[in-house]
Amino acid sequence: MFLIQTMNDLELLVEAAVADFGAAPSPAELENAKARFLGKSGRVTELLKGLGALPPEQKKTRGAEINQAKARIEAALQAAREKLAEVELAAQLQAEALDVTLPGRGRGVGGLHPVSRTIERIEAIFASMGFDVAEGPEIETDWMNFTALNSPENHPARSMQDTFYVDIDDAQGRALNLRTHTSPMQVRYARAHAARHAHEIEAGLAMPEIRVIAPGRTYRVDSDATHSPMFHQCEGLWIGENVSFKDLKFVFSEFVRQFFETDDFDVRFRPSFFPFTEPSAEIDIAFRSGPLAGKWLEVAGSGQVHPNVVRNYGLDPERHIGFAFGMGPDRLAMLRYGVSDLRLFFENDLRFLTQFK
Ligand code: PHE
Repeated sequence: MFLIQTMNDLELLVEAAVADFGAAPSPAELENAKARFLGKSGRVTELLKGLGALPPEQKKTRGAEINQAKARIEAALQAAREKLAEVELAAQLQAEALDVTLPGRGRGVGGLHPVSRTIERIEAIFASMGFDVAEGPEIETDWMNFTALNSPENHPARSMQDTFYVDIDDAQGRALNLRTHTSPMQVRYARAHAARHAHEIEAGLAMPEIRVIAPGRTYRVDSDATHSPMFHQCEGLWIGENVSFKDLKFVFSEFVRQFFETDDFDVRFRPSFFPFTEPSAEIDIAFRSGPLAGKWLEVAGSGQVHPNVVRNYGLDPERHIGFAFGMGPDRLAMLRYGVSDLRLFFENDLRFLTQFK
């Protein structure tokens, strides 16, 4: 009877330990539960300490039973530890799970803006014909933008309607505006060229010809489907002692042929007016086939450089003559790619831009 009762005590103790270990939600709590049973003053340890008070004949059996219970409790502890470790590992795997079937997040490959591509194309074609490429400031002096180009002080092109004026003058006190065209680059480039070759010019020797294009941003107070307040121009200038309109016609036709990759077009010079050229002409082209067939398209302004302007280059208009032209890369990009609204180029909508990659 006594034996059975003590067996039950130990059985209950083992069950309590198994239940406690199983309920421990974390390794730390499991170790606390272990201490309650197997620690220095744990319940099993207390039972073993109590053996000393038993008569010797009971000591042996009781001791063996307690040790048996202790071994079962230790096994339960070990099982609970393993179970917690498994749960922890499963949670970690879950948290760090990788779905290898997801598509990669690679960096998109960029591309040049269609207008930049167009300008590069223009540069390559003119470079192949011996033209230099120059760049100049977008904030320009009133003198470079207008006066040097033979635009009288009261010329309507200077009015508030189409020019962005800059409130602050430059360090020399000169009035500034956002350049309304790339034509001031004629003056900047030709003056630098004349200064570089001053010796030859003064000695009456032939000056190397000026052959340059100058692409870049230009600004006017203007905004609709075909005009943007910021747009691009590309200036061209060819000055020598024997340069004429027929050279302009050849060079420009050659450019169109290479730019549009076709021979199937006509070029027309339509009389026009610019203060800085005389005579002046708009250059129109018409494709003989394709979606734009038969329509005259204005692609550039041009003309023989006005003597007053040649003088502002620092050159002698009796000796140095030639032509200038100004075209719109935005316009050329629209024609080449079949884009109907200029504003699409400047809205930076990737759905539009990625079509040109
Ligand atoms: N600058 C002129 C414009 O903006 C174009 C042009 C350039 C005309 C050179 C003649 C010569 O319209």
